[in-house]
Formats: sequence, C-alpha cells, structure tokens
Amino acid sequence: MKVIITENYEEMSKKAAEVVVELLKQKPQCVLGLATGSTPIGLYQNLIKAYKDGIVSFDGVTSANLDEYVGLYKEHVQSYAYFMRTNLFDHVDIKTENLNIPDGSKKDLEAECARYSAFLQSNPQDLQVLGIGSNGHIGFNEPGTPFDSKTHLVNLTESTKKDNSRLFDSIDEVPTQAVTMGIAEIMKSKKILILASGENKANAVYQTVKGEISESCPASVLQNHPDCILIADKAAAKLL
Ligand code: PGA
Repeated sequence: MKVIITENYEEMSKKAAEVVVELLKQKPQCVLGLATGSTPIGLYQNLIKAYKDGIVSFDGVTSANLDEYVGLYKEHVQSYAYFMRTNLFDHVDIKTENLNIPDGSKKDLEAECARYSAFLQSNPQDLQVLGIGSNGHIGFNEPGTPFDSKTHLVNLTESTKKDNSRLFDSIDEVPTQAVTMGIAEIMKSKKILILASGENKANAVYQTVKGEISESCPASVLQNHPDCILIADKAAAKLL
C-alpha cells in the first residue's frame, strides 16, 4: 500500500483529485467507484473544478457507488443517491443512465443485491474511492464481514450509527440497515484510493496500514491489494 500523508484536508482532497483526473484523462470510458460521507466532499469539489476548467469530462464515465441506506428513496435528502447528485453528479457531464448505486428502497433486497453484484461483475471498477469508518469499515462492510463477501444487506453497528447521526436530527432517525458492495467486489477494482481525515480515524488508519490483516478491521484487507493508495491528513496519520 502506498501511503501519502498530507498537511490537512484540503491537500488530501487535491492529491486525491490528481489520482482521479489522471484516470479520467487516460481512460475517459472508465468505471469509477465512488463513496459518500464527509471525507470525499473535497475531492468531489476539486473534480467539479477540473470539469469546469475543461480539464476532464465525465461524459464516458460509468459510476459505481459503494452503498445505500435501506428504506430511503433516492429523492430522500439523506439518501446516498441524493448526496451523489448534489455533491458531484449535478455539476458535471456524467450521463444519468450511467449512474449506479444500490437501491435501498426496493422491497426485494436480496434481488437488488444480486442485481448490483451482476452489474459489478460485468463492470469492474478501474478505480474505487473509499473512505474509512472509525471502526475500520469500508463501504458499510462492518468489522467481521467476510473478505469474500459480495453485495449484501447489513445491520449497521452502533458505532456507525453514532458516527452518522451527526447528519440526522437524532440517532433514532439513522437507518438501521444498508446495502453495501462486498469486500471481494471492492478488492476487484484495478486501483483503490482510500482517504482519511481527522484524529477520529487515526486508530483505523493505523490498523489498516500496520495492523494484522483481519476481518476485525475490514480495511486491513487493502494490504493485499496490488495497487492501493491511502491518502491521510496529518491528524488521521498520527499513529503511523
Ligand atoms: P466519513 O465516513 O467520510 O463521513 O467520515 C467514512 C465512512 O464511514 O466510510
């Protein structure tokens, strides 16, 4: 794993954007795996700027998002579909028909997981962007998730609900389940870019880079990936 430590969030976001811009230039028809959460927002702002400055186009890009809450329609302001539209897709020239994200509002979630797995099977990511949970999760693959998992339904841990409650009016409003891309499907991406910012990620970053490869820290599996870049700001990297 290549580790890059930056001074702050802004520099982390800029360096991350450089990696994505390089891919978009080299392979305009790429499959781009994307993530939600606070961490990639700065990356997306840099990508929007690169698009507006005429440096890149998303016209040929197929997106593949990591996860979605169960029970939220894609118009819901807390859904990840809404997050992606407002933070990136509405501001670039990506085609609506090329946007892919699990649909957590489906009645038959088993069928939805199978559909999304089949999509990933035929459209493997050229690059997968990841954040990291304070418990080491990637996507919503919580500690204990098997490394060979495919897209599946998860019960969110208390720690994840607590972390995400800052974006809701109260912790009781945080959905209790999600559909997430599996760890095996993340690992199939040709390249992986994992971002971490802030002191509350320091332990998870340490376990990811220096800890043993174990399902108790899902992100530690990335040590096995042949082309993974971790960009962490100083605070997130402070235990390395
Ligand atoms: P965050 O979430 O970017 O909002 O910290 C990261 C994650 O849970 O993967």
